[in-house]
Formats: sequence, structure tokens, C-alpha cells
Amino acid sequence: MGQPLVEIRNITKIFPGVTALEDISFTINAGEIHALIGENGAGKSTMIKILSGLYKPEPGGEIVFDGEPFREYSTLESLHRGIVVIYQDFSLFSNLSVMENIALGPYVSAGKQMVDWKAMEEIARKALDKLQLQIDLHVPVGSLSVAKQQIVAIARALANNARLLVLDEPTSALSKGEVIKLFDIMRSLKKDGISLLFISHKLDELFAISDRFTVLRDGKCMGTFDEEELDDDRLISLMVGRKIVYKIFDKNKRDDVILEVKHLSKAGQFKDINFTLSRGEILGITGLVGAGRTEVAQAVFGLNPFDSGEVLLEGKPVRVQKPSEAVKLGIAYVPENRLQEGLVLGKSVKDNLVITVLNSISNRLGLVDAGKKSKLTAEWMEKLNIKPLMPDLLTSKLSGGNQQRVVLSKWLATNPKILIVDEPTNGIDVGAKTEIHQILRTLAESGIAVIVISSELPEILAIADRVLIMRRGRITAEKFCEGLNQEDILSKAI
Ligand SMILES: Nc1ncnc2c1ncn2[C@@H]1O[C@H](COP(=O)(O)OP(=O)(O)OP(=O)(O)O)[C@@H](O)[C@H]1O
Ligand SMILES: [Mg+2]
Repeated sequence: MGQPLVEIRNITKIFPGVTALEDISFTINAGEIHALIGENGAGKSTMIKILSGLYKPEPGGEIVFDGEPFREYSTLESLHRGIVVIYQDFSLFSNLSVMENIALGPYVSAGKQMVDWKAMEEIARKALDKLQLQIDLHVPVGSLSVAKQQIVAIARALANNARLLVLDEPTSALSKGEVIKLFDIMRSLKKDGISLLFISHKLDELFAISDRFTVLRDGKCMGTFDEEELDDDRLISLMVGRKIVYKIFDKNKRDDVILEVKHLSKAGQFKDINFTLSRGEILGITGLVGAGRTEVAQAVFGLNPFDSGEVLLEGKPVRVQKPSEAVKLGIAYVPENRLQEGLVLGKSVKDNLVITVLNSISNRLGLVDAGKKSKLTAEWMEKLNIKPLMPDLLTSKLSGGNQQRVVLSKWLATNPKILIVDEPTNGIDVGAKTEIHQILRTLAESGIAVIVISSELPEILAIADRVLIMRRGRITAEKFCEGLNQEDILSKAI
């Protein structure tokens, strides 16, 4: 085992009304991959914001880096010591080129006055070579795929001489192949003696890559464990303090068709898509990322105009041109990317929750009825167990998983006839997953037709009545889920 690189000692962080971290101590060794895990709101992101100097801990604790205590707890100090955090949005400048994103930091800190493009190019090239990524240095970063942007962010970290690289849920938007590539990169960084702190809710990924695990529960540290000491059950009980039973729901066959999609096509995205959806049914759509699942869903919702084909709602052809028309027709779509598409982060939980139903809680003059607004908010916060129970808190201050629940409730509040949810439990902890499944199942029982897009086969098998399997823009199979197993689905998806 390596030497200690970062010693976190007695760190506490208090926000108004919430103790996010309480007396946390653990050590990250040089050259190890260290997992930080816990339920939504356990304090993981807060911990890394302290490491990166974005938040200051309460007096009394300290962080010792390579034998030397932090003095200021500022972002500059963290950067100088070699701590680089890659947040979910990467914080890249999307209009600047790949080269500028990677090399600007080291270049500016070298105190150069004139821009020496040659030198910058060399810094960027060297960092990318290390990651074995062939990529045009001069294209704007915004034009790259999410996976490539992530590698650019890692290259930037290398150019900044990172000694500890922190990755907050780095795999949530990646395909299986891209995750494998990222893990290869993580292992090669580790070989070079760089330490990695890795946050994820996907247990299989955590076990595949991590040397040691530190578990947080409710802001407290439950200890640090070697990989060999743990298995799924042990880890889950450390995280949530109770046993989680993964529930498989009863499957139903329904035939009260509400939505019919016929020969839907769009060049380059999907071809000849046909399916029906019945009241009270959960229809799963699965396949690899990039198979065209989201594109089809967005076409039905009016976000992605299709070239040809037909959508019938309750037997009548409809041509939905934009999302507001879809909502009027009773269709709701909960996107996968909670931050970019789902929330206004600068507004409160309350304001976000009622955004979709302002009409129904306003009087004739268009003024929002504050009482109705509070009642509705309280109702959904309770139903989806959104924490903390503070309707006036800005959504930017909620943990990632709780933000996801706000997005979900905002759409549920519209009382949709058809609910489309894209990767509903991405970024949601193991305990809460089952709660979300229960909610979707209850909605279906109440007569709503639900479409669940998910890459997680256990999730599809647990809740869906029927599943469509897509590959490269086409439906390759349609099956009832009763008695189906993962292998049956996989063979049609690949
Ligand atoms: N700036 C802030 N102001 C007030 N409360 C905050 C702030 N940042 C975080 N919190 C609270 O601190 C607690 C821990 O949040 P944190 O984001 O660290 O959780 P997390 O473990 O990253 O969860 P997730 O898995 O859902 O991302 C939560 O209760 C959250 O609401
Ligand atoms: Mg978080």
C-alpha cells in the first residue's frame, strides 16, 4: 500500500439547518483508487468541495496533504497542491478549443505575457498523448461527445500536475464502452502514482475499480474498508443501515391502448419505429446508450421533429410540434440530464416544483395562490421523500439525487396520462431506487401509461410489463417481461 497522500481529520461542515458533514476522518493513499460512497445527501459532494477549497470546513478539523496541513482552504491552495476535481458538468469552456482548455491554466500560471501557441500546443498534445486520445486540438470542446469532453477535462488535470484527481459521478452519462475506456485511463493514472477519489452510485462499477471504500451515512463516516472486506450486501447495510430488498413487481398484460406510434423515422436517428402503449402499463425501452431511445421519446414529446410516420393519441393522429402542446395533451417527459434540462438551479424547490402547473394554481388574474402552491409542494416533497424538507431552499443546494426527485415530481404534478421517464434512477442511491420504482408502479396502477427508458436491465425487469429493445435506431425485439431474464435482452441489444 502507498503512503498517505491526503489525511482528512475531524472535518465538519454546517449549513443553515443541515449538518452536511460531522467529524469526518479518513485517509487517501498515494496511487490508490478510493471510492467515496453513501446515499443521496450523505455529504459526498460537500466533502469534495472542501477538498477543492470551494467550501471552508468548520474550525477544529484539518486536512494534511503530503505531510503538510492546509493553511487557507481556498481553491488556489488546492490547485497548487495538485487537487483537481472533475464535476459532472466538467467546467470546461465549450466555445474554446481543446488546446486552450487543456493548456490555458498551466500557461497562465507560468506568468507568460505573450501567447506562444506552439508551447500551448505542446502542453496539450503531451497531456492527450498520455491518455492515448487522438483528437483535433483546434475544435471547440462543446462540439465533442460527453465522453471526449471528460477526457479533455482529465487531460487538463494532468497538465496541471494533478496528484489527486476527484471524479464526482463520472460515468452517469457514459455508454458501457466509454466506461471501460475511462476505467483504463484511471488505472494508468494510478500506475503513475496519481490518487483518485471516485464517487458513484453504481455498485458493480465501484467494485470493478476501487481499492478502498469510505462510507458516509447522514454526514457521518462509517469507516474505510478494503475492497476484499466488502460485498454488495455489506456495503448497502453500511450505507443505509437497513436491509434493502430489491422488489420485483407483478406483471400485467393490458390492451387499453392510449398511444400508438407507427413507422416513425428520422434520418440518422431511428427508423421504422412501431409500438403501442396501454393505460396502466409500464413499457420499458432499453438498449445501449446511442441506440436511439431518447431520440424516439423526444420525438413523441415534440422536442425532436421526426421525418415521417405517425403518432396516434387515443386513436386520433396528433402532430405535436413542441413540448407545451404535449403537456396540454397529457404527455409528460422527464429528461435524463437533471441539471441541463430539468431544473432552474437559482430558484427554490417550491418554484421549480410548480413551474409546470402554474395555470392550475393561479387565479383568473394570473396570480399564483400561495396556499395551493405550498400544499402541492408539501405533498410531492413527502411522496418522493425529498430531503431536506425545506421548500424554500434553492435547488442548487440540494444533493444531486434530491434534485433528480424534484424534476420527477414537477412532471408528476401535471397529472399526465402518459409519463415518459428517461433513466429515472441515474444518480439515485440504492435505497431510493426502490422507492422510485414503487412510485412508478403506483402511478401505473392508477391508470397512467408509463414509458421507462433505462440501460439497467434489473430495473426494466423489476418494473416493466413489456420491453422494447433497440439497437442502432431500430427496434430489434419486443417482449413481455414476465419470466424474462437479462441474457434474453442482452442478446437482442448487442
Ligand atoms: N450550499 C448548501 N447550502 C445548504 N445546504 C447544502 C448546501 N450544499 C449541500 N447542502 C446539504 O448538505 C447535505 C449533503 O449534500 P451533498 O450534496 O454533499 O450530498 P451527496 O452525498 O453528494 O448526495 P447525492 O448522491 O444525492 O449527490 C444535503 O442535505 C444538502 O442539501
Ligand atoms: Mg453529490
